[in-house]
Amino acid sequence: MSPVKPFALLFVCLGNICRSPTAEGVFRQRSENRLPHLNLTIDSAGTSAYHLGEKPDPRTIRAAQKRGYDLTQLRARQVTAKDFDRFDLLIAMDSSNYQNLLDMARCTGNLAHIDKVKLFLDYSPSSDIRDIKDVPDPYYGGIEGFDRVIDLIESSSNGLIEQLGLIR
Ligand code: 4NP
Repeated sequence: MSPVKPFALLFVCLGNICRSPTAEGVFRQRSENRLPHLNLTIDSAGTSAYHLGEKPDPRTIRAAQKRGYDLTQLRARQVTAKDFDRFDLLIAMDSSNYQNLLDMARCTGNLAHIDKVKLFLDYSPSSDIRDIKDVPDPYYGGIEGFDRVIDLIESSSNGLIEQLGLIR
């Protein structure tokens, strides 16, 4: 039997109150019992400090609850340079988060950190979703935007789980 390998994932958006906590909760629940060869650490963070210590947005909590995901215990924090050492993958929700993470990775001076930065929708098994590139920021929009966020995140979570299943 091969040993269980530690593997750490950080989902990243701007505020860490809408998209990345949703990704954290959805991925945690969906990956349970599906990656027994990995000892997973799953976390989320924001590139901004706008909502430090806050719970996810109430609209995010409600939309997730409707699909069976409980996000009520999560609290917002900001990405730090240390996260590039602690996590194997830092997964951005949109292109702007992705660029910010790449800038931070370059500032650490360790080239290996750049390879850890990924765009979440690139993992979706659906080419239509991969083409969208960005999980749209739902913060200033209507309630339907929060349901759409979950659709996109569920799809990419499935693809990411499949990829991580190949790690030995
Ligand atoms: P998130 O959404 O990045 O998915 O958490 C946002 C939350 C808050 C703000 C923007 C986006 N804000 O400007 O406060």
